[in-house]
This record gives sequence, C-alpha cells and structure tokens, in this order.
Amino acid sequence: MTNHKDYQSLYDLSLTNPEAFWGEAAKGIHWYKPPTKILDDSRKPFYRWFVGGELNTCYNLIDRHVEAGRGEQLAIIYDSPVTDTVRTYTYRQLLEVVATFAGVLRNQGVKKGDRVVIYMPMIPEALIAIYACTRIGAIHSVVFGGFAARELATRISDAKPVLMISASCGIEGKKVVKYKPLLDEAINLSDHKPNHCIIFQRPQETAALQAGRDIDWNTAMSTAQPVDCVPVAATDPLYILYTSGTTGIPKGVVRDNGGHAVAINWTMKHIYNLQPGEVYWAASDIGWVVGHSYIVYGPLFYGCTTIVYEGKPVGTPDPGAFWRVISQHQVKVLFTAPTAFRAIKKEDPNGEYIKKYDLSHFRTLFFAGERCDPATLFWAQNKLQVPVIDHWWQTETGWAIAANCLGIQQLPIKPGSPTKAAPGYDVHCVDESGNEISSDDIGNIVIKLPMPPGCLPTLWNNDARFQESYLSAYPGYYLTGDAGYKDKDDYLWIMSRIDDIINVAGHRLSTGGMEEVLAGHPDVAECAVIGVADDLKGEIPLGLVVIKAGVNRQETDIVKELVALVRDKIGPVASFKVAAIVKRLPKTRSGKILRGTMKKIADGQEYKMPATIDDPAILEEITAILETLGYHKGK
Ligand code: COA
Ligand code: AMP
Repeated sequence: MTNHKDYQSLYDLSLTNPEAFWGEAAKGIHWYKPPTKILDDSRKPFYRWFVGGELNTCYNLIDRHVEAGRGEQLAIIYDSPVTDTVRTYTYRQLLEVVATFAGVLRNQGVKKGDRVVIYMPMIPEALIAIYACTRIGAIHSVVFGGFAARELATRISDAKPVLMISASCGIEGKKVVKYKPLLDEAINLSDHKPNHCIIFQRPQETAALQAGRDIDWNTAMSTAQPVDCVPVAATDPLYILYTSGTTGIPKGVVRDNGGHAVAINWTMKHIYNLQPGEVYWAASDIGWVVGHSYIVYGPLFYGCTTIVYEGKPVGTPDPGAFWRVISQHQVKVLFTAPTAFRAIKKEDPNGEYIKKYDLSHFRTLFFAGERCDPATLFWAQNKLQVPVIDHWWQTETGWAIAANCLGIQQLPIKPGSPTKAAPGYDVHCVDESGNEISSDDIGNIVIKLPMPPGCLPTLWNNDARFQESYLSAYPGYYLTGDAGYKDKDDYLWIMSRIDDIINVAGHRLSTGGMEEVLAGHPDVAECAVIGVADDLKGEIPLGLVVIKAGVNRQETDIVKELVALVRDKIGPVASFKVAAIVKRLPKTRSGKILRGTMKKIADGQEYKMPATIDDPAILEEITAILETLGYHKGK
C-alpha cells in the first residue's frame, strides 16, 4: 500500500480490491490464526470480514504493547476535575489489573459469548471492566449513565447478561448521581435477571449491596487470580451497543472482534494521523460509540495514551477545562462534538482562557456527532490555529464514513462538509426510486454493500430487523438514515435525518420514543415531539400535546408532569424541558402528523403549505403557540 499515498488512489483501491486493502490493514493486528478469507460474501446481504481468523482484542490492546516494550508508557490518564483527581495507568499496570478483573469475571462463571452489561460513569474501572470482558471473550454492552432505569431495563431484557457491572455513583458537575438505585430498579423492571452485579464503591457514595446478588469490586479483586487472553473468532461479537431506532425499542448494534480491531487500528494512523506513544483524547462518554471507538479502543490498539475525562467543557471549573487537559497531558489530537465548543464559545467568546495554556504541541481538532456549523468551525480554527476536521459517522459504522484522512493526504476543508467518503465506503445519494441524484440536490445517503470492516454485521439476535431497517429500502445498499448531497468535487454534505432521530448535544435520541412516553400520560389524547434548533445543543426536543376531552386540569401542571415523565422514563439526557398543550395537531388528509412542517415553523424556516394538509388553519394556531414559547423567531 506504500505505492498509494494519495487519497484518491487509496480510496479507489479500497473499492476495487477490498480484500487486498483490508488484508494489508489486518497486518496491524496480532492473530493467533490468520484469516483464511478476508471478505466472505457467500451469504449476501450479510458480509463477514476476516473469516477463519482468531485473535483476542484485549491482547491487541494491552499485552502486545507490554511485550513490545511499552510497559512503562501511560495507557490511561484519568482526569476528573469533579473529584479533583488525576490517576494514571501504565500499560503494565493496566495489564495486571485487567487480567485480575478478568479473573473476577471467571470466578463469577462468566464465559466466552456471555453478555455483561456495564452501567458506569467515566472512571478507569469502566475501561478495566470492558477490557476484562474482551480478555475472556465475553460480550460487553455499555449503557450510558444518563439513561433512566426503564431504558437500562430494555437493554437488560434484550442482551440477557449473566452479570452486570456498575458503580455507586456518577458525578455530573456538582451533582452526585446515584447509580445503584437505577440499577436495582432496572433489574426489577426487566424480565431477565443477571446472576450477579459487581459494584465499584466510590468515596462520594456508598451503595447498599443486596446480599447474595451484589459483589463489591475491591473484595472480588482481592481474591482473584489473573487470567490469560482467550482466542475468539474474528466474527465473534465483541460488543453490543444499543442506539435509538425509529421506535422506543433501541437497536442492538453488534460489533465483531476482527473487523473492529483492524478498522479502528487503521483509522488511528490514516484518519487521525497519530503515532504510537502519543496522547489522544476523545472528550465523549464511554456510553456512546465515539467513546467506544476512541476512548476505550482506538488509542490502545495503536499504542497511544487515552484520556478518561470526568468533567464537562464548561463549569468544571471554567471554560478553560479543555485547554488545561490538553496542556497538562500533552494531548496531540482532540475529538469532540461541536456542542462542546458552542458551550465554551458561549462562556468565553474571545478565547481568553485559551491564552492561559501552552497548546503549542496540539495538532488537530476533530468534530463529529452532529453537523458542524461553520460558525463553530471558524471559531475553533481561529482561536486554536490548528486544522479543524469535521467527520461523519454513526453508531452502526463505528468509524468515519466521511473524513478528511489526515494520515493519507489532507484535502482542502469546506466548512459544513465532512469531506469525502473514507476508504472502504462507497457512498451514494439517491432519490426515492434509487436513482443517483445530480450534485447539490438532497437525497437519501446510502452505502453500497459490502461496508468496510468494523461496521455492524447485524443487530443483536435480530437479523430480520437489521435487514428491514437498513437493507430493504435499496437492495444492495445500506440506508444511513441521513439525507444530504455530494457536490461536484465528491464532498459530502450531511443535512438532516430521514427518520425521527434527533441529535441533542451530540446525543442520539428518538422523538418517537419520547412520543410513546407522552402518550402514556393519562390525560394525553395525542402528541408530537419535534427536534427544534438550539444554539447550544444543536437540537432539543419540543412536545406538542392534545389533551383528552373532559380533562380540566391546569395546563402548567400537566406540562410539568410530562417533562418529569420523560426524564423518569428515558432519562435526563433527553433534555426534554419544553412542551405545550395545543387544541389540534396539523395532519395530512390521511392522518399523518406534519412534524416536518412544525419543525420548519419553529426554526423560522421557509415552508410550503403541504398540498395534502387537512386543515391549514391549524398551522396558524401552532405558529402562535411556538411564538409564545420563544420559537419561530418572529418570522
Ligand atoms: N450520568 C447521569 N446524568 C447525565 C450523564 C451521565 N453520564 N450525562 C448527562 N447527564 C445529565 C446531565 O447532568 C443533564 O442533567 P440536568 O437536566 O439535570 O442538567 C442532562 O443529562 C443533559 O445532559 P447534557 O445534554 O450533557 O447537557 P449539559 O447541560 O449537562 O451539558 C454540554 C451540555 C454541551 C456541555 C454537554 O452535552 C457536552 O459536553 N457535550 C459534549 C459532547 C458529547 O459528549 N457528545 C457525545 C458524542 S461525541
Ligand atoms: P450516533 O449514532 O449517535 O453517532 O449518531 C449518528 C448520527 O449523528 C448520524 O447518522 C448523523 O445524523 C449525525 N452525525 C454524526 N456526525 C455527523 C457529522 N459530522 N455531520 C452531520 N451529522 C452527523
């Protein structure tokens, strides 16, 4: 591949000869048994990578680096302004603690292929738990701490874990969020019960342990023996990560061991342009895909140092928090969501805090999770004086579909575009009939199969939903769910979703799921939730609710209950804080609620009166209500 240094020839090779391309990339990984087939397409549309290969992900993350002489290098830097702590692990220290925790799992009877659900805050023990699972071939499923018990319960019911791992609490700014009561409630709600729960007790909160079921982390560690890595098939699942779908039931995105290791390891050099030994920081959360790929996995595959940051961009303690971490730990590359920078910019518009720190070693800023608005990109570029790279991806793909691949060739930046398709992704923009759309027209963005290694092979225990959700709309193509266009230079522009997914502060949520919750309130006849533009979080959900005839309660009381209900059932992460009672919802003559039109009105955008609208007067009522809520911006 050394002959193909420019983006275009490398990209072309990845599509014309994917086996040669990814076969070469697979050399970056240690295999107990090398794959006998790089790409198996014998069961289309299900494709499998590196068939016949055997490896261990934990070995590739930790052991091999210790054996190669990186034992004394830092693997993890835990930086927690909320507890005033910095704690580090060298690769050697990490190996010892992970091997021992793998022994704890073994003592609890956890075997290869068993599921372990992890519900933990941003502490190194979360990574240790994950690595220990991979060491013995158990499949982990991490659930984001900002979800409520009911969401956790849904995931427990689907993944059916033999064991759960949690901590006594998380710390959100100045708040201590007790995790254990949520865990207990989720297990009560779930129709599946794990055999045991291992609980890491933090000094800020001591959780009550249930005799017979719950085990204290430290006690279990004190009697466990370290265990070795267990070889697994490349096609064996590494993890399940649940993500919002078009209903309240989340989709269990499966990642396999081989494809994931090869692809994520490859991206560290080719997309992020890192060298082994450098410090890489993904300021996200382990509960999201960004956290999986680039806090937990990517840096360690490549022999880099990862940062586990337990804090926020602002308020912990000030908008200089990111610059402090970059400077203190010699971070070379930062990856975060634009929303984090909007939060910083709001509090420190002139970038005064940046001037307090030496950032001379800092090389590149990467954004993803939501569309990067050009204003944020320009601000970051001006203040930091480094390339600011937007790249586009999703939980399903696990790594960037489109990026400016700095380790291959830096292409010119077009603000608002994540640049071109990354090697391995054959991306097209098509109309409803599947015809390619001419440049600059918005269409559905699809990826021609096979997708590259690391992308989801299926949904957990649900091949049918995988096919129906992603592969049935355009046979032979994967439906991304995003709409946008490809310009004349092949740059992609990701403009909106075609489903009910919204992105709130870089967090992916389903408005359909929120509607299901609102509809469960006894006074609600019908409802709609739309994502409206928000200066800080990009989008926030807004509920419009029709109350049942005969209900005579105070509207403000009902709204308060609705807000509390979404927080209770989905979690604080939904940021559902605004709802209004309306007399009617605008609909088409066939009864479809015109959510898109209401969103345009709220965002103050031009809209066409839908030809099929049942009663145009309703839109005037809705406009007036949105104006009283501060939306529609007077247009
Ligand atoms: N455990 C428990 N609660 C959590 C949580 C967690 N892990 N993460 C968030 N929450 C809670 C927050 O405390 C907040 O609760 P509140 O309503 O009581 O204030 C709520 O969920 C919403 O959180 P968030 O959307 O993060 O908003 P915020 O106001 O706390 O912070 C930002 C706003 C922009 C600073 C923050 O979202 C941020 O740093 N985002 C970075 C981007 C990111 O991590 N993206 C992930 C993909 S790259
Ligand atoms: P998630 O699965 O949580 O990573 O969310 C994936 C979705 O976030 C994508 O399908 C897009 O809608 C959106 N997204 C992520 N990154 C970008 C980006 N760089 N530009 C535009 N949208 C993005």
